[in-house]
Amino acid sequence: MESKKILVTGGAGFIGSNMIQRLLDLGNSVVAYDNLSSGNKAFIKNAFRYQNFRFVEGDILNKQLLEELFSDVKFDLVIHLAANADIVKGMKSPWLDINIGIIGTLNILDVMEKHGVKNIIFSSTSAVYGNASELPTSEDYTDRGKALPVSSYAASKLAAENLIRSYSERAGLGYLIYRFANVVGNNYSHGILIQMVDKLSKSKESLEVIGRGMQKRAYMLVDDLIDAILHTYDKGLRDEVFNVSTDELLSVDQIVRRITDKVSENCVIRYTMDTSPLLGDVVETYISNQKLKNTGFSYKHESHQAVDITIDHLVERFKL
Ligand SMILES: NC(=O)c1ccc[n+]([C@@H]2O[C@H](COP(=O)([O-])OP(=O)(O)OC[C@H]3O[C@@H](n4cnc5c(N)ncnc54)[C@H](O)[C@@H]3O)[C@@H](O)[C@H]2O)c1
Repeated sequence: MESKKILVTGGAGFIGSNMIQRLLDLGNSVVAYDNLSSGNKAFIKNAFRYQNFRFVEGDILNKQLLEELFSDVKFDLVIHLAANADIVKGMKSPWLDINIGIIGTLNILDVMEKHGVKNIIFSSTSAVYGNASELPTSEDYTDRGKALPVSSYAASKLAAENLIRSYSERAGLGYLIYRFANVVGNNYSHGILIQMVDKLSKSKESLEVIGRGMQKRAYMLVDDLIDAILHTYDKGLRDEVFNVSTDELLSVDQIVRRITDKVSENCVIRYTMDTSPLLGDVVETYISNQKLKNTGFSYKHESHQAVDITIDHLVERFKL
């Protein structure tokens, strides 16, 4: 991906900021569009050094502003990352996910059609599968009507995926949809690692962890995630859905121990032993990355390496 005009919605967020840096390094012109609700301008401070970078503070629900931007710049590609990535917040207020995830995505698709922009990359989630009966879960699980999202976040992502497909039909849009597992790395800003490090920054002697520590997840470094997206896009693949994940599953307990080993070896870890999952949380997620591997892609960091790199970033950020 080079010498393209690219709009990145949610460009000041965790994944967006890393994506922007990579796109600029490859010589693309990039506009980051973000309402800074969870994004942070500090994440993209380096991008402002590039002449071919522009930041627009705006909401994807502000159609007028999107219209003005699309009239001004003839984009080759939209990388649509803006979303409410806080599942619990969305469970408390589902309209948040419906508005940002569905109406916001419709706004993007609508202006793309109007201005003849033909390519979209969309960040979906492994959460669309819900508590899947098949593990590892492959992409066609949704096509077989089996996916039952358990959060309004995941429901809005699945709806947005389907909207994108419908725009592919009506407007000849080429899409790539990626269902991410857990992404970690530089500028990581939400999820278990930061919650634990935040708690430890207040007290290093003890750490309370909700649950029993058994829940397992795969973690991918954001650099590998971006590699996967660029690899598939550059291969010319279109109108495809890809799971993006590593193979290695780590339990909460393994994660917590990796953190305390680095931050506070003598820390007493106390599990609350709650057995009921958090509202909106999928009990077990394990997605197949075979389709992605079949394209010739291989990631560079296993889950434990991705987690360790992220812990190092957080230790520095929290000055632990
Ligand atoms: N981080 C993960 O592990 C993960 C996993 C699966 C999917 N995803 C998806 O990847 C995308 C990026 O996630 P992230 O982890 O970087 O989260 P993030 O919260 O850091 O990034 C989302 C960005 O979107 C912006 N935003 C939110 N609502 C907006 C609106 N209405 N208008 C304009 N901007 C808005 C936020 O300010 C933020 O900068 C999201 O779509 C998320 O659902 C992330």
